[in-house]
Amino acid sequence: MTEQTVPRPTVPASGHAETPSVARSPITAPAVAARKGNGDPLVMVTAYDAPTARIVDGAGVDMILVGDSVAMVVLGYDDTLQVTTADMAHHVAAVARTDPSALVVGDLPWLSYHVSLDDTVRNAAALIRAGAGAVKLEGGRKRLPAVQAILDAEIPVMGHLGLTPQSVHALGGFRVQGKELDAARAIVDDAVALAEAGCFAIVLECVPDAVARLVTDTVPVPTIGIGAGRHCDGQVLVLHDLLGLEDRIAPKFVRRYAELGADATTAVEQFAADVRAGTFPSSEETYHAADLFLDDLHLAGRADAPRPDPARPDAVRIEEVSDEPAPA
Ligand code: KIV
Repeated sequence: MTEQTVPRPTVPASGHAETPSVARSPITAPAVAARKGNGDPLVMVTAYDAPTARIVDGAGVDMILVGDSVAMVVLGYDDTLQVTTADMAHHVAAVARTDPSALVVGDLPWLSYHVSLDDTVRNAAALIRAGAGAVKLEGGRKRLPAVQAILDAEIPVMGHLGLTPQSVHALGGFRVQGKELDAARAIVDDAVALAEAGCFAIVLECVPDAVARLVTDTVPVPTIGIGAGRHCDGQVLVLHDLLGLEDRIAPKFVRRYAELGADATTAVEQFAADVRAGTFPSSEETYHAADLFLDDLHLAGRADAPRPDPARPDAVRIEEVSDEPAPA
């Protein structure tokens, strides 16, 4: 495997439309770690491209997770195993190009850190060079060598325990984890090991709230829950779930704050109806030539040219119209 070379993005000169009125300072991984237990819950939301990054950063989230959930909610796969480091770097770069204040966390995909430690570090570096400020990987004590190697390269690491979707086949499906005592103890021990290794935060996915609470009370770094109840230091949701854009699965922990999928279908239906009824485009949605120009067209023998319209005395002459003679 060779080093990924996605260029670090630059800030567009034009800025972006959704810039909050009060500019926020960039949020860093150490700043996130420092929020442990301060009573100010951390907010993380996924984004995968420039428009969604602008939306979530404009809403003031603390962290943008460029999750490998992109495979399911954007690319249409049934699981997250189908995306590569190059795919993730492509999406991280699109998010980072918007220059968000939120910390951009790039998700290391399956098989990017289950390989040699050299390749693990190169893959993590590819996401950093694409614009991430930290990476996330799934798994506990088993992944400590990978975590340590990435941290040794000065890259902040976010852990991910409980339901780890990259292990869907090994786990036998997308199931709640930590329901038995031994499994719950293993999650706590994994969290302690990740925190001791130096992870700056840990995602807890689909675990009973009592387990999440125990982890949160035990580790000195913030826990970010998804399907883990409210006793976490923060919460994360997949943007397409919370906006009502993903219909195929509806886990009980998802709260839908909008129905953008249904709204979008209605909007496109209205466009199609307007086109078919001949009411789109209207005169206001059309570029018009000046009447003098229309006269010229008729003089040049274009019998099919539109007649001058007395209802449009302010029509503007189109300068770039062709000088070619009209066909005989
Ligand atoms: O990829 C993702 O969106 C995630 C979240 C579910 C935490 O890992």
